[in-house]
Amino acid sequence: MLKRIAVLTSGGDSPGMNAAIRAAVRTAIYNKIDVYGIKRGYAGLLEKDFVPLDLGSVGGILQRGGTILETARSEKFKTEEGLQLAVNNLREEKIDGLVVIGGDGSFRGALALFERGVPVVGVPATIDNDIGGTHFTIGFDTAVNTVIEALDKLRDTASSHERMFIVEVMGRESGWIALTAGLACGAESILIPEIGYDIEEILVRLRRGRNRGKTHSLIVVAEGVASASEIKDQIWDAGGFEMRVVVLGHIQRGGSPTAFDRMLASRLGAGAVDLLLNGEVGKMVGWENERVVSHTLEYSWKHKHTIDKELYTLAGVLSI
Ligand code: F6P
Repeated sequence: MLKRIAVLTSGGDSPGMNAAIRAAVRTAIYNKIDVYGIKRGYAGLLEKDFVPLDLGSVGGILQRGGTILETARSEKFKTEEGLQLAVNNLREEKIDGLVVIGGDGSFRGALALFERGVPVVGVPATIDNDIGGTHFTIGFDTAVNTVIEALDKLRDTASSHERMFIVEVMGRESGWIALTAGLACGAESILIPEIGYDIEEILVRLRRGRNRGKTHSLIVVAEGVASASEIKDQIWDAGGFEMRVVVLGHIQRGGSPTAFDRMLASRLGAGAVDLLLNGEVGKMVGWENERVVSHTLEYSWKHKHTIDKELYTLAGVLSI
């Protein structure tokens, strides 16, 4: 019988992590399970930085960005010595279930713990939306909305000054943020790692716009492709236009989660505790076809959630 579980957040923070913590804690308490929070992810696990969580400790956090448990990236945890220490610390605290909220790297860490006997489940939370086994990761929708707000503002100034902007967005090796926000804002070109790019084609699109009287343009580039300033130089060197560069950076990781992310985080946080209760460990929860689903942790990287090519084609058609 499950008596005491622990929750941690790991890797890059994402909006909705707090809502997921709240859902996991409250679902556990509802099922008469004690809950501990582990501060600063795997780093805190090695330092035994455990805090008891009750109903009140997760009150008022649903709407807050970031993570109240804080997060970190720990190199020591990746060593055999670190992993053994983590397992021992969990045993000493009598933790019989661990919920890991995070992205790809966090899930790999979770699998390493599972292989050493820890009953663990993963909750996919990253703005990158690149985890297999779920159609959406917690934080992606909020990040896209943050980017959209910035792109709309840049469009205002671009059209007022007849300017062209290249906007660099996050996503690591994934083009999901660039593609979704670019489509939603009518970006003239969207550069994503999954497809690659051709400077000549970008120039053709820019010139075509100019020829029909369009005086402003937005190019969205995913960081996994190149930096915005590299693209700017390439366009200039190819005999193109003068462009201005904006790098949105970490503002994409902050802010209050959208309604969608709050719903997703609540479902997945609760779903994770349900998995522990059912003894379905070494797994992750996901959201597919309007349902909470589960997959093995390995599934999340063996079946990477890659961009929808039809969406990319559509963005190209609509921004002709
Ligand atoms: O994985 C989330 C993410 O924000 C990526 O999109 C980005 O490449 C990376 O983290 C940035 O990491 P850091 O905050 O360590 O610079």
